[in-house]
Amino acid sequence: MQAKRILWMIVAALLLFGTADAIAKHGEKPPIKKAILLVAFGTSDPEAARAFELVEKRAWERFPDVEMRWAYTSKMIRAKLAKQGKLLDSPETAFARLMDDGYTHVAVLSLHTIPGEEFHELYQNAHLFGQMAGGFQRVLVARPLLSSSTDMQTVAEALLKKIPGRKTGDAVIFMGHGTEHHPADAIYLAMNQVFQELDSNAFVAAVEGSNSLEIVIPKLKKRKVKKVFLVPLMSVAGDHAKNDMAGDSPDSWKSVLTEKGFKCEPILKGTAEVPEIVDLWLDHLKSALSHF
Ligand code: CO
Repeated sequence: MQAKRILWMIVAALLLFGTADAIAKHGEKPPIKKAILLVAFGTSDPEAARAFELVEKRAWERFPDVEMRWAYTSKMIRAKLAKQGKLLDSPETAFARLMDDGYTHVAVLSLHTIPGEEFHELYQNAHLFGQMAGGFQRVLVARPLLSSSTDMQTVAEALLKKIPGRKTGDAVIFMGHGTEHHPADAIYLAMNQVFQELDSNAFVAAVEGSNSLEIVIPKLKKRKVKKVFLVPLMSVAGDHAKNDMAGDSPDSWKSVLTEKGFKCEPILKGTAEVPEIVDLWLDHLKSALSHF
């Protein structure tokens, strides 16, 4: 019994050294093959999906020789699209495919607004894929949209420019997603401050975060605002924008504000439809690509 075990150990050792030897002999690294993975929460709304087309088009113009692929993080949206015959990968499946297809360097651009829960999950898994033996040489995740005070300033300025029909005295509330489970929620408070410095009638509130609409309403009253524009601070004007912000149900922002006596005008346009903002996302992608 003991002899058999020793024999197996020798065989195992030979196999191991044999493999190592084989790797050393074939030593040279495979030629560099770069890819970009664009990642979004996803949307099943064809109108909202047009925002992603703009991102892809502009990314393609800036990085024409790099393979570009999409992945959606939302399982629910992928399942919904699959029923319509549109097959989208999760980031993990997309990584596995890129690895199988021999890509060596992958830059990931997520269309997330803040580095919250979803961003960190993606970041962690991208890092793990980067560590796999015999796979990628490098995987880098670009920073999300609001990653510095300069980013915040650029985004706020671009968004304030794009409110057709807004007159002096009209307020605007930007609807962020928000999260009560992640410290990055504080970015929405910082963003509110950036807007306030530029324009005292511009506010940020979040659907799911701590900075709720209820906090903004008394401020509107204090400033004697009559009309409020509602604009998403999310990459696409999807479900939250269409229903929670602009919908007709009594708990939508539009209904709540109308009930309180404000005139409301929702603008259904995501941040990924604003060229200056897309360019900022692509600047983040560019700095990731510059490390390859
Ligand atoms: Co949500």
